[in-house]
Amino acid sequence: MLFLSREQILSFFTMRDAIEADKKAFVLHTEGRARVPLRINLDTEDKSGQCMFMPAYVGGLNMAGVKMVSFFPGNAEKGIPVVPATVALIDGATGLVTAIVEGTTLTQLRTAAISGSATELLSNPDSRVAALFGTGGQASAQLEALMTVRPLREIRIFDVDPERVRKFVTKNQPLADRFGTVLVGAKSSDEAVEDADIVTTVTTSPKPVFDGNRIKPGCHINGVGSYTPSMREIPVELLRRASRIFVDNREAVLAEAGDFIIPMGEGLFSSDRIAGELGELILGRVGGRTAPDEITVMKTVGFATLDVVAAAAVVEKAKALGIGTDVAL
Ligand SMILES: NC(=O)c1ccc[n+]([C@@H]2O[C@H](COP(=O)([O-])OP(=O)(O)OC[C@H]3O[C@@H](n4cnc5c(N)ncnc54)[C@H](O)[C@@H]3O)[C@@H](O)[C@H]2O)c1
Repeated sequence: MLFLSREQILSFFTMRDAIEADKKAFVLHTEGRARVPLRINLDTEDKSGQCMFMPAYVGGLNMAGVKMVSFFPGNAEKGIPVVPATVALIDGATGLVTAIVEGTTLTQLRTAAISGSATELLSNPDSRVAALFGTGGQASAQLEALMTVRPLREIRIFDVDPERVRKFVTKNQPLADRFGTVLVGAKSSDEAVEDADIVTTVTTSPKPVFDGNRIKPGCHINGVGSYTPSMREIPVELLRRASRIFVDNREAVLAEAGDFIIPMGEGLFSSDRIAGELGELILGRVGGRTAPDEITVMKTVGFATLDVVAAAAVVEKAKALGIGTDVAL
């Protein structure tokens, strides 16, 4: 069984690798070859933490896996991860656990690669300016995904906490330098989206994070943060203006994303407006952007197929390069 740590994964698995893995996962999902039961959530006795189990079996790879991810807010003051995650992979031919992969890094890569895939498939190729909302655990990888798929000149960073913006820009400018991109701290959400060609939101906000009327024609928006019916980042005005709306997983998004569920409850949005899943777009079953001035939207809540396919890609590349720690149980 192969163990792969954060440092090992980051030493060889690139954002481009993650994007290709996610595209494969979208296709397998849309083709109906993955089985993903509902996530199991277990609260601790004192309610101070929650352990979650996200299993999937992926035909095509003949591999099963489970992401074990927990939420322990009290860990922050202990200086240990608040949302620790681990992915175990199981060989579909033998049932043996073949790998244990550090799951926080894997989640960051596979989640950013969802936005990377959607941006590559839907944004205008000449996009030069982007905006990123949120500077938390997922944000650096989201930044890298945007810069990987489009030659961006400038990315505006916005967060409700200006001090976090300042720290994020300082910490991530060396990464942006590798792509020739300048990071600019935005003082307001209006300033962030002004003339932006691409917007990614990766926040924990319960309400829309920007004014939908301020988004310029031709913009592509990735909604990543909300994953419960009471959370939302994308305003309904933007949904109404959008020409093409895509999701990573139709069933999951309609069950979990407040961005759609809240306006649907108010009679302001209909699921008929969803053009399709990213897998359908990749397979050519539905069309994407048809004109440079169309607004496109992608909403993701994530699903375990992405974790299993990305972990399998990490393990395959690690074995080819002889990286990782082999352990006999
Ligand atoms: N779609 C997926 O597959 C997927 C995967 C992983 C995480 N997520 C979700 O993404 C979100 C972000 O994750 P994280 O780990 O970076 O969270 P985090 O708690 O580390 O950071 C969230 C950031 O959002 C900021 N924020 C809150 N409201 C805002 C607003 N209105 N405008 C701008 N910034 C605002 C906070 O100040 C904070 O900096 C979470 O809700 C998480 O569950 C989604």
